[in-house]
Amino acid sequence: MPSVFFQTFGCQMNVADSSRIFDILAEKGFVSAETAAQADLLIVNTCSVREHAEQRAKTRISQFARERRNSGQKLWVIGCMAQRLGERLRDEVPGIDLVIGAKEMEDIRQRIEEHLPYGSECTAAAEKSSVTDFVPVMRGCDNYCSYCIVPYVRGSEMSIAPEKVEEQIEQKIAGGVKEITLLGQNVNSYSYEGCDFSDLLSRAASIDGLKRLRFTTSHPRDCSEKLVRTVASLPNVCNHFHLPVQAGSDRVLSLMNRGYSSGDYRSKVEMIRTYIPDADITSDILVGFPSETEEEFRQTLSLVSDVGFTTAFMFAYSPREGTAAASMKEYLSDKQKKQRLTELVNIQTEITREKYGQMIGKQVDVFVTGRQDRHDKMWMGQDNGCKRVLLGCNGAEAGLILKTRVIKSSGMTLIVERV
Ligand code: 5AD
Ligand code: SF4
Repeated sequence: MPSVFFQTFGCQMNVADSSRIFDILAEKGFVSAETAAQADLLIVNTCSVREHAEQRAKTRISQFARERRNSGQKLWVIGCMAQRLGERLRDEVPGIDLVIGAKEMEDIRQRIEEHLPYGSECTAAAEKSSVTDFVPVMRGCDNYCSYCIVPYVRGSEMSIAPEKVEEQIEQKIAGGVKEITLLGQNVNSYSYEGCDFSDLLSRAASIDGLKRLRFTTSHPRDCSEKLVRTVASLPNVCNHFHLPVQAGSDRVLSLMNRGYSSGDYRSKVEMIRTYIPDADITSDILVGFPSETEEEFRQTLSLVSDVGFTTAFMFAYSPREGTAAASMKEYLSDKQKKQRLTELVNIQTEITREKYGQMIGKQVDVFVTGRQDRHDKMWMGQDNGCKRVLLGCNGAEAGLILKTRVIKSSGMTLIVERV
C-alpha cells in the first residue's frame, strides 16, 4: 500500500487541512508512513504568517527534495506559502512535484484525484486514532489586520453550513473522537442563513457522544455577550477563550486595524470573567509593529500584567509583502524587536507560572488525550480550560474525563492525582 508522510507547519487550520487530505488519501488506499524516508508521498503544509515560518518550511522542503529516494517518491507543497508563492516556489526550491495553495482546499478532492501518483480506489481503513480533532466551521478572513497575510492567502470569509459541520462532527465521533475544536480565523463572524456562531455552538454541543467542545479563534471586536452566555450555559463547552489582543496601545491597535481599543478589550475580559470566573483566557501578542514606541510597548506589558492570560503566543512583527503594514516605513530593528519580545516573554512566563501555581489543591476534570512517549509514561490531558495536565494512574484511558486533584505545578503543566 502506498504511504504518505505529512510535515505540517503553522496553525490549527493547517492541521485540520492536513487531516482532511489524509482522510481523502486513506480512501484511496494510502496509509501513513512512520518516517519521511519510507513514504511514497511527502506533503509539506506551509505557513506564511511570518518570514521565519516560511524559512523553516523551505529548509524542510529542500531537505526532503535532497534526501528523496529516486524511486519515484513524490513531494507536494500545500498551504499558505504555496498559495502566496505559487509556481514561483518551484523555482526557489527545486524538486517539488505539485503546489496546492490554501485557497484550493475547497476542491481538494478533485486536485488530489488529478495528481494521485498511485493506483485506483481501494478501501483500506485509515489507522489514525485520536480522541480529539478539529472541525473547520469557516474559511478565510475579511478582517485585513494591517500586518497579516492570511486574508490574501486564505481568501475571504466563507461559513460552512451547520448541517455540514454537524455531519463532520458525527463522523469523527463515529471514529472514536470525543473532543472537537471548531476552527475559524474569526469564529465570531460565523454566519449561515441566520445561524450565528453561538447557535452553531449550541447545535454542536448537543451531538450525542461529544464529551468536550472547544473553539478558536475569537476576535475581541466580535466576541459577544451571547457567545459568552452560551459557553457558560453549556457544560461540555470548555471554559477557554483564545482572544488575541496583539497590542496594548490604542494608537498601535488602530494602525493594526483591529477595531477595538485597549479599554474595549479589558471590558470583554471583564464580561467573560463575570459569567465564567475561572475561564482561561489566552492571547496572541505582537511586538515591534512599525513605529511602536517604547512607551507603547510598556502599555502592552501593562495590559498583559492586568489581564493575566493563562498563556500567550508572542511574536516579533515580521513584514509581509503586500500587507498594509509592510509599506509603513518606521521599522524597528531586529535587535529592538527581540529585546521587547524577550521582556514580554519573561513577564508572561511568570504569569503562566502563577496561574498554574494557583491551581494546586484544586479539583479539576481532566480529559485524557493519550500517553507520553517517555519511559515514565504518564497520561496526558487537559483541564476544562486550556491547561496541560499530567496524570500518573493506572485506570486512565484516552477519551475519559476523570475527576482529579492538582498536587503540583511544573510551570506549564499541572501534575494531578485521581480522586
Ligand atoms: N508578524 C508577526 N506576527 C504575526 N501574526 C500575524 N501576522 C504577523 C506578522 N506579520 C501573529 C498574530 C496572529 C498570529 C496568528 O500570528 O499575533 O494573531
Ligand atoms: Fe490575520 Fe487579523 Fe484575520 Fe487574524 S483576524 S487572520 S490576524 S487578518
